[in-house]
Formats: sequence, structure tokens, C-alpha cells
Amino acid sequence: MTLFSGIQPTGLLHIGNYFGAIKNWVKLQEKYPSIFCIVDYHAITVPYDPKTMQDKILNLTIDLIACGIDPKKSILFVQSQVPEATELTWILNTITPIGELRRMTQFKDKSQEHPESVNMGLFDYPVLMAADILLYKAQIVPVGEDQVQHLELTREITRKFNKTFGQTFLEPKSILTQGSRIMSLTDPAKKMSKSSGPETYISLSDSPETIFKKLSTAMTDPARQRKTDPGTPDKCNLYHLHKLVSSSKELDYIAKGCQKAQIGCLECKKLLADNLARELAPIQKKRKELAENPEKIKKILADGTEQARKIAQKTLIEVKKKMGLTD
Ligand code: TRP
Repeated sequence: MTLFSGIQPTGLLHIGNYFGAIKNWVKLQEKYPSIFCIVDYHAITVPYDPKTMQDKILNLTIDLIACGIDPKKSILFVQSQVPEATELTWILNTITPIGELRRMTQFKDKSQEHPESVNMGLFDYPVLMAADILLYKAQIVPVGEDQVQHLELTREITRKFNKTFGQTFLEPKSILTQGSRIMSLTDPAKKMSKSSGPETYISLSDSPETIFKKLSTAMTDPARQRKTDPGTPDKCNLYHLHKLVSSSKELDYIAKGCQKAQIGCLECKKLLADNLARELAPIQKKRKELAENPEKIKKILADGTEQARKIAQKTLIEVKKKMGLTD
């Protein structure tokens, strides 16, 4: 069973991407033959800067490898380098009902966010995603909650294709990362995201000082913050971050200390900052080494493209045969 997932080259990775997705990918690549794709064709469906695109792709590749994606085990490549994906998108477009695409929550949200560029690509985004997955006949697809609806559509497209043209694809399953929702530092009701400004997230490249600085202004349990009650750790965004990096002994100390107001938020934040910095240190070290040799990174991507294309071409020929487009 093949695993496939994609990530957009939209800039620096933050701990939400790391704990919510990539750390899980690193584990899963031990269990399944895995394909990880930098989805530049998805990224251009909203306004972007062409001048920084290549840099973002290179940096994301470096980040992924620094986090532990192993190009010797897994295929790592850039979406636009495998044109078969856009070819299959066109084919799948012909069996995708427009009504289904209109229902997609992400399309509605992004249309509202960028009313000046509600384009066909944004509308077709889920079909390109289906093509990504089906091209490699992937069955295991780790995604965030926001992509589950797209996966459902992929399954529907899969059934429709098989029914219309004969059994070709297997229905993929999404797997959600445990504890995958990492929330904004300043607004715990929102998902951590790069678009809300650097004070709202911790980037993988933040120094220990920056991490502490960002945490010191971060929201904690609202009741404790108003000083009306001692803290309730489970209502505190930072306690959830602690669960990702702190030992069970530390968690116990914090939970009890917070409830009895024996420790202050500052002490709790200091410990969290130290533990986060410790977790990120080896990634940052590896990142620095990798960044010294961009040619090697480009070679990894070129090798990945070659491997991906081989699989993609084989699937596309099978699809075209089934559809009477070639003999
Ligand atoms: N749309 C996904 C996201 O933004 C990325 C993606 C593109 C993807 N193609 C995919 C994820 C295929 C899983 C499978 O998160």
C-alpha cells in the first residue's frame, strides 16, 4: 500500500506543520512506501510572488529532509515536474460534478479570502489533489482535517471512474494525525498559520530567544489570564504544546502547579520554550548543513521526479487505454 501526501511551498515551516503533519510522515515512511510532493500547482491557485517560488521550493525541501523525510526511503518531488498529474486532472474533470466542487468548504473560504481572484484553478484544486493521489494509486493519505472533504471527493471520483471505465483505482483513505490541530499562539480558536503574522506561530528556524519571546506574549487559559481562577491546564493552549515536547513528569508538575496556582504562567512558558528549543535544535543543525549544498538538494528532487514520473506514466497509459484514448 502506497502512501502519498502533499505540502504547499508557502514559506517557512512552523511547529503546526511539524507536529501536525511532518513528524507523522517521518514515522509513516517506515511503514509504507511513501511519496511526498511539494505541490506548487496548488500554491499558485491564490495570489503569490513568482520571484520567491524557487527559493520556497528549495527551502521546503531542505526543511522536509532536516525533519527526517529520507529521500533514500521515500520519493520526494515537485508537483509541476510531473506533467502527468495535470493530464490526469483534465481527465478526472470530465467525471467530476460541478455541484460537488461548489460544496467544498476550502473553496468557499478561499474565495472569500481572495475575492479578487476566484479562479478556475482554485475551483479545480480538489481534482488536482485527486489526480495526485490516483496517479500513484496511493491508498494511505495523511492529511489535516481541512483536507478530509477533498479526500471524500477523491473517493467519489475513484468510484465514478471505476464504474464508468472499469476497475482501475483503489479508494484512498485519509489518516488524521493525532493531536494534529496546533492552534495560534495569540488566538487559540484559530489554527496556527503563517498568514496571521510571525507572533502567532513558532517557526522551525526560530532561535531559543525568539521562541521564548513569542511564548511570553502567547495566550494561556483565559480564566487564569484574567486572574479570576487558578488555571485549568486543559483549557490552556500552551499546555497542549507542552504535551508535544515535555516529559510526563514535567506535565504532571505543570498541571498540578497551574491548578493550585503554585507556578506562574511565566515559569510554565520558560519550560515550554526550553523543551521546544531542544526538540528543534537537531532539525536546525541538519538544516544548516543541508543548506550549504543546494546542488545536492536539487539532485534529490531530480531523482524524485524521475521515480515519480515512471509510476505516473504507467498509470496514465492504463487510464488512456481504459478510456479509448490510446490502444
Ligand atoms: N491540498 C493539500 C494541503 O494543502 C496538499 C495536497 C496536494 C495533498 N495534493 C495532495 C495532500 C494529495 C494529500 C494528497 O494540505
